[in-house]
Amino acid sequence: MLISLEEAISLLQTAHVVALPTETVYGLAASIRFKKAVEEVYTLKKRPKDNPLITHICSKEELSPFLSEIPPGLEKLTEVFWPGPLTLVVPVNDTFPEYVHAGYTRAAFRIPSHPLTQEVLRRVGPLVMPSANLSGRPSATAAKHVEEDFSASFPILDGGSCEKGVESTVLLFDEDVWRVGRLGSISLNEIAEVLGYIPTLKEGDRPLCPGQKYRHYAPVCRLQLQGDPTSCEAILGFDERTYPEGLLFLSFGSLSDPEQVCQHLYGNLRSLDQNGIVSCFVDMEFPKDGLWATIRERLEKAASS
Ligand code: TXA
Ligand code: MG
Repeated sequence: MLISLEEAISLLQTAHVVALPTETVYGLAASIRFKKAVEEVYTLKKRPKDNPLITHICSKEELSPFLSEIPPGLEKLTEVFWPGPLTLVVPVNDTFPEYVHAGYTRAAFRIPSHPLTQEVLRRVGPLVMPSANLSGRPSATAAKHVEEDFSASFPILDGGSCEKGVESTVLLFDEDVWRVGRLGSISLNEIAEVLGYIPTLKEGDRPLCPGQKYRHYAPVCRLQLQGDPTSCEAILGFDERTYPEGLLFLSFGSLSDPEQVCQHLYGNLRSLDQNGIVSCFVDMEFPKDGLWATIRERLEKAASS
């Protein structure tokens, strides 16, 4: 159910959950002031309790009182990338509510750039906002995707289609360096230009983002990333390529435009289920660098179940 800006604000101020648009994906929002509302977000999404939430703020000043230390590079990163699709996981003190970050010593923050959500944040204060999809499903990049997962009566502030289409890049300050918790819509090259080094994904033992250990972005449709496409019903590929006949073609867009591929990525995965397609071949022959690394990671996760 589409609601107005004023309705969204009033629902959030009275401890309710609503879906809000951001430049990356739609978020399921609750005010961090209300433990009950934050818990409701976990319940609605069927999200594992040990997977902490990102707190969205409207200014850098809102972050400072919660910090237990100021990691080197924080100032530069926020200067260049906020508002925008960069989430920073930083050490917090005990004035920051524990139920938001699942008891970890660090918590995640970002300033989203969508003007409607910025207005909500100015009026309501900090909001948690995980992606507005059922846990494990493709994220929502349009109001109709939110309705698919949470019913037609769920309150949604419609901000149109999301400009980026994939989630924020998550960086964690860990053992004196910034590391990558999740690839996202800012490429690691762009971040390296600011930090002076390419932040790495920590190999081995534990995932840096608890969310990374769960199934993600997956349609019901089976995705096949290699081998013979002809046993599949559909093919998700690029406009400039020719594929075997007899398969329904769904377009990623152009090989020359990874931004556009991101914008339609989750919509494409969702449309497989909407059209009742049971198996789809995905053309993974695309570059490995920049935003393509994010696209590859999302598709590999979506295909593994
Ligand atoms: O673009 C986005 O970031 C969207 C929009 C709505 O802002 N939000 C989003 O939230 O993607 P969510 O909850 O779907 O993903 C948050 C990721 C998860 O992988 C979670 O594990 C990680 O951030 N995260 C959150 N807090 C963390 C913490 N304290 N330590 C490590 N990872 C954390
Ligand atoms: Mg998510």
